[in-house]
Amino acid sequence: MTSSEKQAWCPFAAEMNLDQRASYDKLRDKQPFAKAENFGWTALRYQDVFDIMKNPDEFSNATAWAAIDPNLTPDQRAIPLALDPPEHTEYRKLLRELFLPKRVNLYEGQARDKAGAMIQAMVDAGKADAVAHFTDPYPVRSLCAFLGWDDDNWQNIKRWSRELTSARAAGRQEEADALFTMWRGYIDKVLQQRKTAPKEDVTSWLIELGQDGEVLNDEQIISILRLLLVAGHGTTTSALGNMIEYLALHPEKQQQLRDNPKILPSAIEEMLRYDSPQMVMPRRTTCPVDVNGQHFEANESIWLNFLAANRDPEKFPNPDECNFERRPNQHMAFGAGIHTCLGAIFGRMEVRVGLEELFAKTSWFEMAPDGEHERSNFPHNHPTKMDIIFRS
Ligand code: HEM
Repeated sequence: MTSSEKQAWCPFAAEMNLDQRASYDKLRDKQPFAKAENFGWTALRYQDVFDIMKNPDEFSNATAWAAIDPNLTPDQRAIPLALDPPEHTEYRKLLRELFLPKRVNLYEGQARDKAGAMIQAMVDAGKADAVAHFTDPYPVRSLCAFLGWDDDNWQNIKRWSRELTSARAAGRQEEADALFTMWRGYIDKVLQQRKTAPKEDVTSWLIELGQDGEVLNDEQIISILRLLLVAGHGTTTSALGNMIEYLALHPEKQQQLRDNPKILPSAIEEMLRYDSPQMVMPRRTTCPVDVNGQHFEANESIWLNFLAANRDPEKFPNPDECNFERRPNQHMAFGAGIHTCLGAIFGRMEVRVGLEELFAKTSWFEMAPDGEHERSNFPHNHPTKMDIIFRS
């Protein structure tokens, strides 16, 4: 392949976004790494993405995020995502407490109540946009419950997160900075309220840590909360949307789960592999380095493409087959290495509870023949509108 062919690719091009799974399959099968103008490199194959994530010394998160958010101070960048060891290790140890299974399990009942009520409303209506009425509100409102925040503002939180992710990926710096300032002010308000009137919630817990061990200042607490408020629902919205869409479009698969609910956990893992909700994450080289025959200079940007890597035929035989009993299934939908998703237990719980409630409250669901069905563009990968018929 000539270098001009390699340069011809653009993740924002309309033809790439028509069918993202197929587009990235094609790109990955042609080359392990693709370079796009003003975007840098993208790693597309499983083993390369895995090796890069396992090598934080040569592929840095800190410099990757410093380039994406150049106008923020280190404390203002996402903690712990935008850090390398040793700082990353310290914060990660601290935050692990928040996501222990025993703590996450406390929220399953609230998640179930929310999911059940939203699904029942769609069933009662007979036909509904499952994005507007379920996959958008359910994860963000469950996340608010987990953080101990009122969820009245869930629509704005959802919109700001989406806009921030898009602005950053497209390098629209002014827009990203304005969104950052808005997020900062919003979170700071809650932080100052909790300082005068503590609650049994994550914000108060982070403040206490700061006071006792002098571990966290206000700016760091805000950065942690902002990361959780951005990372903790868009991914789950995307996962649930992709799964409901897949099951609505593949009646035999929906029937398989109705006949054999015990395979739901492995079906969830397979659907996460088949259509990965978090499409890309960034890294930057710290030194000249070769990966799988490709040379990178120091300080080059590389996006890890999980959608392409999790459908790599070298790793997963028949990758376009969504096999609910696939074993082994070492997908990387939650990443790998030191930055592996901190909220994976919470995300998996939310998805499982959401689907359990959907199956419990319906005898069948399918795409409405006359309904609307739209999907997002890069860097997002999920339905944005999906009219579905729900049968009780
Ligand atoms: C299905 C749902 C989810 C998916 C697919 C997902 C995916 C990911 C991925 C791929 C990464 C790795 C990033 C990298 O290596 O650069 C990550 C990291 C992270 N995720 Fe998730 N995530 C999900 C749900 C959640 C939830 C519910 C939360 C919090 C409530 C969360 C919080 C985080 C945090 C804090 C990190 C950074 C960890 C670190 O840097 O050490 N995620 N996630």
